[in-house]
Amino acid sequence: MMIEQLNRDFEGLRVLVTGGAGFIGSHLVDALLSANCSMVAVVDNLFLGNLDNLEHAKSYGERFKFYREDAAEFSALDAVVRELKPDIVFNLATKALLYSFFNPAGACRVNLDIALNLAEMLRLGMYQRLVHVSTSEVYGTALSVPMTEEHPLLAETTYAAGKAAADLALASYVNQYDLNITTVRPFNNYGPRQNDGQLAAIIPITARRLMEGKPPIIQGDGMQTRDFVYVSDTVDGLMRFALASDLTRGKTFNLASGKETTIKELVTKICRYYEYNGEIDWQPQRSADVRRHLAGVEKARTLIGEVGITDLASGLRMTLDWYRGRNTR
Ligand SMILES: NC(=O)c1ccc[n+]([C@@H]2O[C@H](COP(=O)([O-])OP(=O)(O)OC[C@H]3O[C@@H](n4cnc5c(N)ncnc54)[C@H](O)[C@@H]3O)[C@@H](O)[C@H]2O)c1
Repeated sequence: MMIEQLNRDFEGLRVLVTGGAGFIGSHLVDALLSANCSMVAVVDNLFLGNLDNLEHAKSYGERFKFYREDAAEFSALDAVVRELKPDIVFNLATKALLYSFFNPAGACRVNLDIALNLAEMLRLGMYQRLVHVSTSEVYGTALSVPMTEEHPLLAETTYAAGKAAADLALASYVNQYDLNITTVRPFNNYGPRQNDGQLAAIIPITARRLMEGKPPIIQGDGMQTRDFVYVSDTVDGLMRFALASDLTRGKTFNLASGKETTIKELVTKICRYYEYNGEIDWQPQRSADVRRHLAGVEKARTLIGEVGITDLASGLRMTLDWYRGRNTR
């Protein structure tokens, strides 16, 4: 689907993004606003989200609205949805995977609670379509590759267990009430605005350490693999899934590049960007660290076309340029 077509199809729609002040959510908000939605609203409790991520969105004036609310609290989300009357909700709110090592039950519960709240509101006819953003973490370590959507759910963290529970709960709502829900499981995202503070992921942490003159850290042997997908590709996929909901409703899709990279290779690429030739700080393997991830993306491709098209070298350059630019401002 061409960008112009995508933009035309979103024109006039009212959209709510939970977790929209976060990394992926804020890029989605920008894309929806530039696609001429008549209203794009964010509900985010700023657990990890950041209002700086919404600076561009604010320039759209009354077409953009921000609610600082907890989407896991039914009455708060209910009030937002009643006021906003969205056509589509994209559910991205979550507490980061690493938070599950600090508060395992809380990290699990929040994922399920938000999904249940949104399912109930959809069942009550308060909006029409839900695009639920799950995660590849629900699969755990690959039993076979490429990992299709039929891969067993073998969550290794309580974060992932909460996501898997949410996916199952939403599938049961579809089964019982024939609701318009599409579940999307992105693999590892990267790009500008990804949190590089507390609970950060490997790319932002490594970039930050190198810019601070510290050696990069690798936990374990560095041979763990991930399927990295650039954030704009994820946003583009989520928007196309929302529009194709006649075909995608009730189904679950991977969203990834279909390419596998070891953590060691990734860290080496980041070191090269910063012209760092020093030591690596090798640390023990983190517990519950998925060993291998490589997505099967055929199912997504068949229904919405090419996905995850940005190659890692270009995506990484755009990302690291952004961190460097922000650091020198
Ligand atoms: N980043 C990745 O690599 C990746 C990979 C697969 C799936 N995902 C999924 O994509 C979604 C977005 O991830 P992200 O990387 O942008 O994370 P993020 O932490 O940057 O964004 C999540 C947002 O949710 C908000 N939030 C947390 N709890 C909330 C609550 N109770 N109510 C309202 N808002 C709340 C946070 O403040 C934050 O802004 C998540 O659902 C995540 O599971 C991310």
